[in-house]
Amino acid sequence: MREDFALGSFLEEHRHLARHDLSASECDPLPMSDLLAMADEDDLSRWRRLDLGYTDPRGAEWLRAAIAERYHGASSREILCCAGAQEALACLVGGLLGEQDHAIVIVPIYQPSEHLLRARGPTSGVKLLEGTEWRLDLNRLEAAIRPSTRLVLMNFPNSPTGAAIDPRDLFDLIALCRRHALWLVNDEVYQLADRASPGWTPPIVELYDRGVSINGLSKAFGLPGLRAGWIVCRDAAVLAAAMRGKSALSSCLAGPSEMLARIALRNAETVLGRNRQIARENQSRLRDVLTRHVDLFAPGAGSNTALSMPRYLGPEGARAFSERLVRQAGILAMPSCLWTTPLAEVPRDRIRFGLGGSGVSAGLDRLDEFLSEASARQCA
Ligand SMILES: Cc1ncc(COP(=O)(O)O)c(C=O)c1O
Repeated sequence: MREDFALGSFLEEHRHLARHDLSASECDPLPMSDLLAMADEDDLSRWRRLDLGYTDPRGAEWLRAAIAERYHGASSREILCCAGAQEALACLVGGLLGEQDHAIVIVPIYQPSEHLLRARGPTSGVKLLEGTEWRLDLNRLEAAIRPSTRLVLMNFPNSPTGAAIDPRDLFDLIALCRRHALWLVNDEVYQLADRASPGWTPPIVELYDRGVSINGLSKAFGLPGLRAGWIVCRDAAVLAAAMRGKSALSSCLAGPSEMLARIALRNAETVLGRNRQIARENQSRLRDVLTRHVDLFAPGAGSNTALSMPRYLGPEGARAFSERLVRQAGILAMPSCLWTTPLAEVPRDRIRFGLGGSGVSAGLDRLDEFLSEASARQCA
């Protein structure tokens, strides 16, 4: 039987109470009319002429070419398109790992990803170090390596923490993986930060020959409805194995999604620039709000993503507070217990705020008000 997807269940139970959604990890969804308004004449003419037949099972050549342009030295042959990043990861893992192969996953991570690994075969978890702004514990990771280990899965920039990987840790991790001939897979769906900002690291496929980048348009581009994701991998045999897995799931991407995905990628700087701006403003607003309520929250460091996961200090704990927040103030945010896993300890005293939406600032105003009322009640 499949394990419960705690995050999905929490949303299902509470979404109808939310007037302010601070739970989403994706950036502000772009209306289709805005996306089409960015298209040049060539793309508009392709869009109008698009037929609705089956497309290339690997993703249209012109879409893979547009994706390849985002990776230094990559070609369209090194890309496999899938229906979203999660399908991409599932196809890759299915293609790479045999039943006896051991995998290591760095947690916290999107629950379906670690479920996927555990349902398949032996898996160990290595937790990020909370006290050091979520740095990777390379000693613990090295200790988890077995003779049968074949793959390390990570998600940087990370959800729920918002953390980036420290560039020194990344280079040490690559050296470790190289010594043990391990595949290093990074779910890069939150790679939103500017190239110039501190802590930015290139896609893993550019840094390591056994590095595999998973990405898509759902998060940083705010286009989850397109269901456009991909794998970038230098190894033709691994991509072919992933392709075999994909054939069992769906024959191809939807043609209209491929075309819209191409328009988004060709206008990436406009779309990402808008989303970064929204995320930055909301990050700064959240910091202002939380620094006014240090009796209830420890704000923690900011991040380059549209996510933040501060520690909640109130007596009832983060889960009970999140439930009260949505019931009494209509603000939906995610308690960190939704990322718990049997593989390693994940802190339960935090709340993840999704800061990608343009409507988030009204929710942060309401949060400010609600926290003031809560502090006043505590003092009374
Ligand atoms: C880290 C991570 N990877 C993948 C996904 C799923 O992405 P997609 O909708 O493109 O399948 C999510 C969704 O929340 C996520 O948080």
